[in-house]
Amino acid sequence: MKFFIDTANMEEIKDAFALGVVAGVTTNPSLVAKEKNVSFEDRLREITSLVPGSVSAEVIALDAEGMIKEGKELASIAPNITIKVPMTPDGLKAVHAFSKEGIKTNVTLIFSANQALLAARAGATYVSPFVGRLDDIGHNGSDLISTIAEMFAVHNIETEIIAASIRHPQHVTDAALRGAHIATIPYKVLMQLFNHPLTDKGIAAFLEDWKNRDK
Ligand code: E4P
Repeated sequence: MKFFIDTANMEEIKDAFALGVVAGVTTNPSLVAKEKNVSFEDRLREITSLVPGSVSAEVIALDAEGMIKEGKELASIAPNITIKVPMTPDGLKAVHAFSKEGIKTNVTLIFSANQALLAARAGATYVSPFVGRLDDIGHNGSDLISTIAEMFAVHNIETEIIAASIRHPQHVTDAALRGAHIATIPYKVLMQLFNHPLTDKGIAAFLEDWKNRDK
């Protein structure tokens, strides 16, 4: 499973990429709205000048025609822009149109296996099931990852599964074990993945022993 970073913040993106473990970026309108004094297009230019992998940029229009127009404009910013489209009938019409033009797509707000299958059949490059938001309403978001992964394997579907709405490190482990190709994770969760008290304790003990060695 690969890691994407789920943010529109340049400092977080720079820090995350410096770690060498991140392959792409996902944004959504809520994440972009947190960024002040920069247009969406300029932020996408900044991100794509740093990140060679997939950078998801979400359309705002709700009708297929509007999504296609917006998506084409966003896709013209850089070749690695992936157009993020909501899981609706109009969204899938737009995905179908993008796929015919070779524009990559990420179908977002997936909450059921059937939605994922529809998106894949429309030609989606990625589907994004929202693990945390399902957990929030008392469902098991990680079970959905397993179901989609099994369904795609049975039918040889090449659409990749991005585990989204990741809230904590256990979601990351679960996504990897249950067959997600990618987990898109907030910067805070990415940094939490590094932590283990025995690592800190071990470093402190090594340094102490080194300091006290016979010279
Ligand atoms: C990414 O594609 C999603 O938009 C994001 O992971 C949603 O996360 P949230 O449910 O924490 O807002």
